[in-house]
Amino acid sequence: KSTSRLVVGNWKMNGSLALNQTLLAGLLEKTKATPEKYATVQLAVCPSFPYLAQVQQALSGSSISWGAQDISLYTEGAYTGEVSVGMLMDFACQWAIVGHSERRSYHGETSQQVAEKARLALSQGMTPIVCIGESLEQRQEGNTLAIIEQQLKPVLALGEQLKNIVVAYEPVWAIGTGLTATPEQAQEVHAFIRELLRQQQAPQVQILYGGSVKSANAASLFAMQDIDGALVGGAALDADEFLAIAIA
Ligand code: G3H
Repeated sequence: KSTSRLVVGNWKMNGSLALNQTLLAGLLEKTKATPEKYATVQLAVCPSFPYLAQVQQALSGSSISWGAQDISLYTEGAYTGEVSVGMLMDFACQWAIVGHSERRSYHGETSQQVAEKARLALSQGMTPIVCIGESLEQRQEGNTLAIIEQQLKPVLALGEQLKNIVVAYEPVWAIGTGLTATPEQAQEVHAFIRELLRQQQAPQVQILYGGSVKSANAASLFAMQDIDGALVGGAALDADEFLAIAIA
């Protein structure tokens, strides 16, 4: 288990200049007032693309980093509506979420494309947060670990750079539903992911859990051996709740 905890807020398609300002001010005020509480936590937020400049301006020089919710598979050219890694580097993004289940299901992203996005991010110095997770049906059919392995397979082939990624295990049935995986359910999958990473000489990769994480359930999840942090959706939209998760 890694010594520092990584807690990332995925704001999804929420926010506005005004709402973000309040949220960012809340995060900054609390982390600056009691920095010792956050000494072993790495905090990051991922707003929608148009707000990256706002977030960069607010968080520059603070202990909180930021990133994007997705990246284009392409580096430049005629790809209307896409945002390249290079553009995101202009806004000093440290992280890029890739392969979120909402991208996989609403935009048909494949595990191969997700691995390619991870490779692209790494090649330009950004850390990809690679999301994987089974659906309820897949879990009920007893296919959870097989699905996890399938989704991770092209990523495991990244080679030397594999050690520089972050993995987020997000059971699809737990995302935005209020249904959290039990710590034991999550740990079982995290341990399996750890083993796959170990086989590729990358056991130190941080493995985050995501899916209805709140301050009330975070501590029991973080207590598990292979849970190194969280990817937080809904609860990341409230500064107090997000920070309570971070130090749970
Ligand atoms: O990326 C975050 C996850 O999809 C979790 O979302 O915390 O709203 O369930 P949630």
